[in-house]
Parts: sequence; C-alpha cells; structure tokens
Amino acid sequence: MFGGDVHARTYADLQKAGISGMLGRVGLDAWGRDFADIKFELVAVATRSEASAQRARTNFKEWTGAEPKALFGETPWVSVLNDFPDLDVLAVATPDHLHTPAVIAGLERGCHVITEKPMCLSMEEADRIVDLSRERNLVVAVDMHKRYDPDHLRIKDDISTRIGEPLYGSAILEEPLEVSTSTFQWATQSDPFSYVGSHWTDLFYHYYKSKPVSLSAVGQKKRLIRDGIDAFDAVQARVDFDNGMSVYFQNNWVTPDDFEGPVNQGHEIVGTDGKVESDQQYRGFRYWAQGGGSRTANNHFTRDVRRPDGSSAYVGYGVDSITAALAAVCRMKFLGASREAVAEIYPTPEEGRITVAIIEAARYVRDLNFKYLKEGKGAVVSARFGADGITIVDPNRFEEGREAVFSKIYDRAI
Ligand SMILES: NC(=O)c1ccc[n+]([C@@H]2O[C@H](COP(=O)([O-])OP(=O)(O)OC[C@H]3O[C@@H](n4cnc5c(N)ncnc54)[C@H](O)[C@@H]3O)[C@@H](O)[C@H]2O)c1
Repeated sequence: MFGGDVHARTYADLQKAGISGMLGRVGLDAWGRDFADIKFELVAVATRSEASAQRARTNFKEWTGAEPKALFGETPWVSVLNDFPDLDVLAVATPDHLHTPAVIAGLERGCHVITEKPMCLSMEEADRIVDLSRERNLVVAVDMHKRYDPDHLRIKDDISTRIGEPLYGSAILEEPLEVSTSTFQWATQSDPFSYVGSHWTDLFYHYYKSKPVSLSAVGQKKRLIRDGIDAFDAVQARVDFDNGMSVYFQNNWVTPDDFEGPVNQGHEIVGTDGKVESDQQYRGFRYWAQGGGSRTANNHFTRDVRRPDGSSAYVGYGVDSITAALAAVCRMKFLGASREAVAEIYPTPEEGRITVAIIEAARYVRDLNFKYLKEGKGAVVSARFGADGITIVDPNRFEEGREAVFSKIYDRAI
C-alpha cells in the first residue's frame, strides 16, 4: 500500500522534476537554487512477492518511462544493497515489525534511510538505529507526515502558543476494517495504537517537546476474532507528559466500509487559555453520487495537480515529509552539512525513539490489562517512564513483592 503508492509516486515526481519545486511546502524554498541540478533516480523496488515488485515497476514506468530493477524475496533490501553498492538512500515501507533489519542493513552499508512509522517496535531496536545513525553520520528520517499537515503547522507555530499551557488533549485515528482483514497479512504482529497512534504521539511530542512520564492502556478483541484474526480491534492509551499534559489516544482498525471517509481522525488540545480542535477527516469537503454513498476526502494528504501536458503532479503533506527527509540528505551529500545541522528539518530517529518508548510500554500494559479485565481484576496496570527507563507497575502482583510489582522493561533514560 504505502511504498507502492505514496513513496513511489513521490519518487516518480522527483525523477521527473527534481526537488526544488517541492521545497516551499516545507519552508526550505531558500535552498531551491542549491538543489536545482540534483537528479534523483529510483534504481530498484523490492518487495516480498515477485508479482508486487513487477507491479511497482510497471506503475513506475507508466509515471516516468523509467524501469527500476524489481527485486523480491524475504530480505529483498539485501539484494538492493548488493546490486547498488553506491546507493544514497534506502526507503523502508515494510510491515511495522520489519523496519529494523532493513534500516540497520542500509545504515551499515552507508545509506541514508527514510523509514515508515513507527520507526520500530522496541527500544532495543530504537537504540540500535539511533546509535548506528550517529556513528555512521547518516540520516534516518521517520515518515511522520502529520507534522506537515497545514492545520498542524498552524497549531505548532501559532495556536499552541496562544492557548496557554496544555492541560489535556485527545487524538483519534480509526482505520477501515479492510486494512486489518485484507490489506495486511501482518495485523497480528502490530496493533492499531502502534500502527497509527504513533502518528499522534509523535505530533504531540513535536508540538511540545515533552517526554512521557506514565501511561495506561487497554485494548479489545471482539471483531477481528470473528474472522479468525487474533489481533486487537482497538487500543486506547492515556499518556501523561512531563509538562503536565495528559492525552487520550484512541485507535481502531475495524471501521466498516460504509464510513464516509478513508479514515476517521482528529485531535484536540485544551490549554489554560484556550482550545484547538482539528478534525482531519471532515474538513468541509463532502460529495455523493448515485450508488457511491456520501463521502469525504482529505485533499491535504495527497492530491493530483494536473500539469499542462496532461500528467499529474502529486502534492500534499504525505509527500512533504519525504521531501524534508531528502532535503536533509541533499544538504549533507552535496553541501557538506553536518547531521546535527539538518536535524531540525525532519523527524529524527532520536525523536522516533520517544514514540517507540510509548508504544512498547503500551503493549505490555495493554496485554496485562486485557488479561486482568477477563479475570475480573480491573485494568490496574500502568507504566512509568524516566531517567531509570521504563517500569511496568502491576499492583495485582503485590503478594510476589516489590520486584514483581515494579518490573523494568528498559533501563536507559528515555
Ligand atoms: N505514513 C503513513 O501514514 C502510513 C500509511 C500506511 C502505512 N504506513 C506504514 O507503512 C508500512 C507498510 O504498510 P503498508 O500499508 O504499505 O503495508 P502492506 O502490507 O501493504 O505493504 C508491505 C510491503 O512490505 C513487503 N513485505 C512484507 N513482508 C515482507 C518481508 N518479509 N520481506 C520483505 N518485504 C516484505 C510487501 O511485499 C509489501 O510491499 C507500515 O510500517 C505502515 O505502518 C504508513
């Protein structure tokens, strides 16, 4: 879905027209002339099955006339790295649980990396990625495109400073049932909070640069189990941050097909002196036609803009985060910028690690609460974050002693 669609379309436009035309959308237009002569070439696409690799290659040929090499297999990124030893950038859009091996392989071979969110699923993996990207002086950009949504840019740069100190907030992202039942073969290896809640945890971190201090989480399994899929339908997590703000994240991937939009999403923040509401699903654009029901669309995410020659340019905040990542890479490769100097302009692995801390802790807490709720013991488990790492707090184990009640799942500072 995402690699063959948003990434590939973006790379097709880069191959046709370069990056300069896209820079103004991410505030980097002053670099337009510096980057004007840089050429991009998608040299290979790599997927698990031969059929999807060939499909991606055919699509790319339709868009650009060029034919990237189609590679496939269980670890197709290894073939890419072997076949193209001077590769500059590896883009990773494998399933959530399979980002790390490709990211690490790319870094080890000296490639900058753009990876889909969440960066990875565990802190052990996050530390390996952060350490290696620093050691090798390479960009690892996490595709957190919600940062580039025009409404969110306005909130970050303007509204968040006007509504006072943040008190509490909520964020919702509800995905279609189709995603968990047919698009993904891997729903059991992720969950709705890791998969899409990670967008929001990153956005709140981006707004306030505030780290988590504690969380509680629960999940439900009632719908997917009907289809024989042993995965969570929905997960809710409440995360408390070190600026005193508490945010409730609600995610599912069981929204029926009849829903009016591709996904349901939005967030709210209440501050000491005001409030902001941002509905990302219904932005005032709705249409209906015979047989199609009533629909909404998010034209900010990606949209086609007709060129005079009849082809279409692809723009939107879905593209912008990839532009920002590649701008950082170009700055380093062609203009000698340091990794630190470009860190401001894209979601870094150090920032991606904060979200990984939240989603990893939420999985532990959610699983224990799921078990205890079934046993009639309530959802009493929580997690604490701090300089001493991540501690799971489980009052139901009080008879086993302090060590059992306060168990560490990670022992470095967050
Ligand atoms: N930024 C966003 O808004 C957004 C939206 C959708 C998905 N994503 C992320 O993109 C990633 C991919 O999601 P998707 O929706 O495209 O999933 P998908 O299942 O449609 O695609 C996964 C791709 O990985 C390949 N793959 C699967 N198993 C593999 C293996 N063992 N080895 C090598 N390749 C393998 C598949 O061939 C396929 O091309 C996920 O991490 C997801 O969270 C991000």
